[in-house]
Amino acid sequence: MLWLAIIQHSKTQGAAVIKMCSLIPKFLDGVSWLETEEGPITLVEYGCADGGNSQYPVKEILKQFYELKKKQIPVHVIHNDLPGSNFSHLFSLIEGSDQSYKREFGNKAPIYSFASGISFYEQVVSSDSVSLAFSSTAFHWQKQRHLHFSNDALFHFHAPVEEHQAWIQASISGLKEIFAHRSNELRLGGRLLLSHLSWDGDRSKGVIPRSVHKVLTNAFFEEFVDRTHKLTREQARACNLPVTILTPAELEGIFPNGVFVPEGANYGLKLLHFEKTVIPSPVLARFESGGIKIDLLAQLVVAATRAWFSPAFRSYLPESVDKDEIEEFIYAKAEEAVRKDPTLIPKHVQAFMIVEKFQVDKL
Ligand SMILES: C[S@@+](CC[C@H](N)C(=O)[O-])C[C@H]1O[C@@H](n2cnc3c(N)ncnc32)[C@H](O)[C@@H]1O
Repeated sequence: MLWLAIIQHSKTQGAAVIKMCSLIPKFLDGVSWLETEEGPITLVEYGCADGGNSQYPVKEILKQFYELKKKQIPVHVIHNDLPGSNFSHLFSLIEGSDQSYKREFGNKAPIYSFASGISFYEQVVSSDSVSLAFSSTAFHWQKQRHLHFSNDALFHFHAPVEEHQAWIQASISGLKEIFAHRSNELRLGGRLLLSHLSWDGDRSKGVIPRSVHKVLTNAFFEEFVDRTHKLTREQARACNLPVTILTPAELEGIFPNGVFVPEGANYGLKLLHFEKTVIPSPVLARFESGGIKIDLLAQLVVAATRAWFSPAFRSYLPESVDKDEIEEFIYAKAEEAVRKDPTLIPKHVQAFMIVEKFQVDKL
């Protein structure tokens, strides 16, 4: 089952990465330093995970960059994630996979890969050193865990409205922190391409009532905790995930008048492009076209949720409980629910941004 989870994990987020890559011509269009630069330049990826979805965007960015430059100048590629990330898998892909971006350009291409295991809530490379950067489906992870909610919620969008609002504010401040660091790291005219998990609903309507996530939540609290008493409600409530899904308007709001300037800085980020897109679920599309049956659809959807949810959830569960037992139970319930009702599969909205570092007095 684990292999299934990993494959599906990269596929679902891979769809967002592929869409992000369709914006690379825009991302590279009109870069001010492109003609004169002789390298080495630095390209950074933030939140690379195990590198499964890193190869294609790096390959496409370099391919299109070299075409515009008409020359292969040296590039340092830095892949960033938290210290516990699977960097050895990342490097095994870079060195050995058919998809490797290094292979694409042959052995002699001056492309050098590095890893950075520092949180993207800190500055991870030196100031004014990054020419190009990208990140996909990563900046929605909050900097720290918050106190648990006063109701049974594993996700902020099932919490009482005021508590849910506090998370939104924390997430917006977190993103401002992230952007402040990125604007410091980028050189003037340097660019960041961002693909960000989003949600296009109406917050005033409160919680999102029906989804796989709600099924997991109910199975955990109502069916497992309440019936088995193997962990206390307090312990269960402490297992919510520090991720916040902002709406496109909340994301765009970080750039009033199209710019973000960190406090006291004489530089900032200019929003060159913003769009939102519904990313169709690849497995739901296969189901709808008759390519897979409902049982496999349910397995794949739950495996995808499990792949991103499980590592954090398991780490928050108390050591005294059988984590496998809890997981098997809640994921079985979720599979059963999707089998009965595929509309529980959430609609995946993604926001895309291209930003460029500018000097305030030169705007
Ligand atoms: C959902 S995965 C996305 C991975 C990949 N970009 C993709 O699109 O498939 C999010 C990644 O962000 C990383 N992440 C979360 N918080 C982070 C932080 N503070 N600093 C660096 N990476 C972080 C996680 O470890 C995880 O690998």
